[in-house]
Amino acid sequence: MSFTPFGLEEWQSRYEHTVAYNLADSGCHPVALSELLGDDPEAVDRLLASSLHYPPVGGTDALRALIAAWHGATADNVLVTVGAAEANAITIAGLVDPGDHVVVMEPGYRQVRGLALNAGAEVDAFPLDPGHQWRPDLDALNRVVRPGTKLIAVTNPNNPVGAILTPSEVDAIVAAAERVGAWILADEVYRGTERLTDEVTPSFWGRYDKLVCVGGLSKAFGLPGLRLGWLVAPPWLREAAWRRHEYATIAAASLSMHLAEIALRPATIDRLLTRNRSLIRDGYTRLQQWIDRSEGLLSIAPPHATALGFVRYHLPRPSIEIAHAIREHGDVLVGAGAHFGVEHHLRITHGLAVGYVDAALSSITRVLNSL
Ligand SMILES: Cc1ncc(COP(=O)(O)O)c(C=O)c1O
Repeated sequence: MSFTPFGLEEWQSRYEHTVAYNLADSGCHPVALSELLGDDPEAVDRLLASSLHYPPVGGTDALRALIAAWHGATADNVLVTVGAAEANAITIAGLVDPGDHVVVMEPGYRQVRGLALNAGAEVDAFPLDPGHQWRPDLDALNRVVRPGTKLIAVTNPNNPVGAILTPSEVDAIVAAAERVGAWILADEVYRGTERLTDEVTPSFWGRYDKLVCVGGLSKAFGLPGLRLGWLVAPPWLREAAWRRHEYATIAAASLSMHLAEIALRPATIDRLLTRNRSLIRDGYTRLQQWIDRSEGLLSIAPPHATALGFVRYHLPRPSIEIAHAIREHGDVLVGAGAHFGVEHHLRITHGLAVGYVDAALSSITRVLNSL
């Protein structure tokens, strides 16, 4: 059986620990455990006293209730998983059969695309339009969605371009799915990373009945090392996904669930989102200044969310080649546009320590000027 590897993740796992500067990760500078626990004097004692039994397989009741509140759902809709990655994987495994038709957004994080191809599905993409600030091309969506389309996958806010769907674009995507009875998989891991507003992007939850929302702590919360994610689905589908979760991982880690219960308390949510939005806002300003200094070599349609810049370079060379040159000669890892389905771009993470980002960007400039 043919297998489509996950190009971006392979790139990161091969090279992220071989460079001085890693601008290929997709979140902000991670939160330290001490920062998460904050100034609660008893938090450390509670953590040290926590038992290391198998946790409840679907997630603790308290955690599922907090996740439900984040999406406006109920705890019966929620399954806690090992990262959003597992949530996407078991959703596709449960919904997509060989020969099914799946529609994805591009440029995009290509996990769902690869999972669907590996499940034997036919996959079409609808573009986010670089000529229109990466707005979704809804005519293209309506052309590719056809009777029998099984699933439409969207990421909102988007990785890598940081676009946020407008209410009318959400309506159009729901209408396209409704027209043919397709499922929607809404990957919402970047909710909470808004750059231009403090308003959290609305969840798709409640907009449609054949819907799965995916989320996790890796991006807006700055806690990727916990490997804690979730899916929100109608109860029967949540049960079906749970059966697959038992095969795949049994459960997320009990310590991660304990810490996730802290992260998702309303007061901690505010604290973490404020911290990460500040990294995103400062980081983007510096990225934009760096692009402005490039004298036309680089350009960008400014992202509305995420710690990412999807930067267009104006050189007639493939993105993997450019990214390899930056890695080998600049000691910096960035994502290549080809990993997201669109050439002549680099995905650059800027929501990190200012000095680190500045040094890495200078190094990239040196390499680009030498090409
Ligand atoms: C859109 C999207 N979904 C899912 C994931 C996986 O996230 P997690 O760390 O929660 O497994 C990523 C990671 O980059 C992502 O960008």
